[in-house]
Amino acid sequence: MVFPLLDKLAIAGLHAMDAETAHGVTIKALKSGLVPACRVRQDPRLRVKLWDLDFPNPVGMAAGFDKNGEVPDALLKLGFGYTEVGSVTPKAQPGNPKPRVFRLPSDEGVINRYGFNNEGHAALRARLEGRHRQTGIVGINVGANKDATDRVADYVAGIEMFADLASYFAVNISSPNTPGLRNLQARDALAELLTGVISARDEKTRTLGRKVPVLLKIAPDVSDQEMAEIVEEVLAKGVDGLIVSNTTIARTGLKPDPRRDEAGGLSGKPLFRRSTIALAKARKLAGPDLPIVGVGGIDSAETAWTKITAGANLIQLYSSLTYKGMGLIGEILNGLSRELDKHGLSSLDEARGMNADAWASASID
Ligand code: FNR
Repeated sequence: MVFPLLDKLAIAGLHAMDAETAHGVTIKALKSGLVPACRVRQDPRLRVKLWDLDFPNPVGMAAGFDKNGEVPDALLKLGFGYTEVGSVTPKAQPGNPKPRVFRLPSDEGVINRYGFNNEGHAALRARLEGRHRQTGIVGINVGANKDATDRVADYVAGIEMFADLASYFAVNISSPNTPGLRNLQARDALAELLTGVISARDEKTRTLGRKVPVLLKIAPDVSDQEMAEIVEEVLAKGVDGLIVSNTTIARTGLKPDPRRDEAGGLSGKPLFRRSTIALAKARKLAGPDLPIVGVGGIDSAETAWTKITAGANLIQLYSSLTYKGMGLIGEILNGLSRELDKHGLSSLDEARGMNADAWASASID
């Protein structure tokens, strides 16, 4: 799929199926090893060192694609600098009834309301333990079961279950598809959650001798006041970074399509502007030192560069692969190298946040 023609054929074939079936077929293809390795030139200027991790490049696979940790190594082979498995919940759960994912081709968007369908902690743990060589950066995105009576306990259980296997943790409190989940972004609830999660992590640091970074993944729909409170809590509790952002519940600016009113979270191109503004606001509030992962609507080298210059240390993508195929990863990596050449820079760090002021004050519409 890394060759343009094969990519085009694969996309046409996959788009003949409903979106969830196409996703299953893609996972199977990746599992079978049919997908060739990416032959992109490794540019040392694209390396990113954060915490004690050395990312070969800043482009990661976002959560939700490999919920059950079936294909982390195949994704790394395709050229991703890292991948994030999950969201995973303590118990397996089926998620919402089908259909629950919809393409919006004229906007290059996706709406999903999967609702954390996943095989649960034990199954993910078994898969990750079974990887041949445990190399490469694999983050674990933890969530809470729909029927959990104590959601904080579910996140803490995720930290305890995977601390020895996770390169980093993403604490996902921003899925719109688990009722009430995003209320954890409100200040008091967030403070309680972060206290629990960070103390579980610190406890594990003592036994493992390695501090696993914990990142908080937030929605792009938070108000300015909520964003300010989130960043304050993140800094106060010693959280290691932010992921901005998850999908949006907004539907502004979409072309007419009967599927645009489906319930769920919207991602892809229509999310780009909203999530980039949220990213830049977070960067301005947090200052230069807090690592931030920029995600939402990246579909080219240009949009990848825009996220970095709006304040991202690392980036992730998912929806655009549906429209552009896996060859996009190499295209983005080559394009980022060209951007560095063009601006006469020797690392992405030098570009980070260059345009944060402008993006932070831009209006969404
Ligand atoms: C997601 N996303 C997601 N995020 C998360 O933290 N846990 C999850 O389980 C999922 N599941 C999921 C399923 C599907 C089908 C999509 C399209 C997305 C959100 C994803 O990680 C990312 O934050 C957004 O999709 C925005 O990035 P893109 O898709 O615009 O590049």
